[in-house]
Amino acid sequence: MELNTIERDDIGAAAEDLVVPPAATRKVFVKTYGCQMNVYDSQRMTDALATDGYVATDAVGEADLVLLNTCHIREKAAEKVYSELGRIRELKAERAKAGREMLVGVAGCVAQAEGAEIIRRSPVVDLVIGPQTYHRLPAVLAKARSGEKIVETDYAVEDKFEHLPRPKRAELIRRGVTAFLTVQEGCDKFCTFCVVPYTRGSEVSRPVAQIVAEAERLADAGVREVTLLGQNVNAWHGRGEDCEEWGLGRLLFRLAEIPGLARLRYTTSHPRDMDNELIAAHRDLPTLMPYLHLPVQSGSDRILKAMNRRHMAKDYLTLIDRIRAARNDIALSGDFIVGFPGETEADFEATMQLVEDVNYASAFSFKYSPRPGTPGAEMNDQVPEAVKDERLQRLQALLLKQQQHFGASLVGRTIDTLIEKPGRQAGQKVGRSPWLQPVIVDEKAGEIGDIIQVRITKTGYNSLFAELA
Ligand code: 5AD
Ligand code: SF4
Repeated sequence: MELNTIERDDIGAAAEDLVVPPAATRKVFVKTYGCQMNVYDSQRMTDALATDGYVATDAVGEADLVLLNTCHIREKAAEKVYSELGRIRELKAERAKAGREMLVGVAGCVAQAEGAEIIRRSPVVDLVIGPQTYHRLPAVLAKARSGEKIVETDYAVEDKFEHLPRPKRAELIRRGVTAFLTVQEGCDKFCTFCVVPYTRGSEVSRPVAQIVAEAERLADAGVREVTLLGQNVNAWHGRGEDCEEWGLGRLLFRLAEIPGLARLRYTTSHPRDMDNELIAAHRDLPTLMPYLHLPVQSGSDRILKAMNRRHMAKDYLTLIDRIRAARNDIALSGDFIVGFPGETEADFEATMQLVEDVNYASAFSFKYSPRPGTPGAEMNDQVPEAVKDERLQRLQALLLKQQQHFGASLVGRTIDTLIEKPGRQAGQKVGRSPWLQPVIVDEKAGEIGDIIQVRITKTGYNSLFAELA
């Protein structure tokens, strides 16, 4: 374990002068940016902090500890953190005036990528902690409370999941009927635009027994739907209970046996790792929801090669055909990048053509953002911002049309819905369709956790309205 200590800054009073609240009355405010894995990690950090006497608060001004769990995937995401730190600086100064401590921590992928630079740029920060070291949070905080500035971003040799405390059953119940479960972290693919292999490190799979135990705990607390998470989730592999090597498909079959778990999902996948067993799981497991997020990024072979995606457009289309043959009601979602270095109008047209060919139910699309340290950032032929803007608009218009078309195709149909939470409007509850759309129903349609049959009556912008079938 490597602890870097940096000179403390002179903001507010010295730590020794401040009233340090006794354990059990400390409050932590956690703000999460980026992907679902950060959502999961934020919960695990909150769990780790609970053993240290911290309770979560939504009011940042009341917090003894502010943690920003950050995202580094695109420049915009990373910059948000610094503007937030500017606001926190004022809050911390106010609290210091009132004689109260406020520790400020930066966690997540910006922490991993920028390390001590964060404290140089934003001296309000007391601790920087990378995603592989969250289990050390209580120890790191003890040091930070004594006034040390701490940067902890080494890749731990120990398994962070083994060392992270488990949330109490009551806490799991409070979190609701859907849950994330990280099964894999890191990535060995090195797409040339992507920071993930640098911020999250190389691929690590959690052992089967750990995953099964966590899924059982979730089911026991009333969770009905579990989404398995990994940066490259379908590269997950491990030694199974039968001592054979399992892939994600086999793991899904095992998790489907757990009583109470009615729905399984996984995200995010790489096309190269969709193996036969995983496709068979889509065919044979009703528990596995018919929705697949399978990013392709581009429809141009030239760009796919420059991106180091390791497959061609045709391979992706053939794969989609095989998956649809296995499960014909599967809805597809994807990620796209426009304006990767060297992308010509013809390359972009190939992406539009691929989108037409696949017909997505939903998708995420981004302008290429050069990330320091990645090969893409060094490439010639960077595409002008205005061209990226224009292409993104065209692509998003097409994807939106497909998404609306998909929603409209469900009107009049009867589908399963998992009732998830109260609606924003009185008298309503919100459910989840098999294809991840929010489904608005009358609150009397069912209890939270029920899976009910509803008939879709109309579509909203991003949601469906339904009545009990
Ligand atoms: N610029 C733009 N988009 C990116 N993504 C990843 N890196 C970049 C980048 N440098 C997108 C990809 C990925 C999603 C999570 O974010 O589409 O699948
Ligand atoms: Fe990034 Fe995904 Fe490529 Fe890995 S497979 S480098 S996480 S885009």
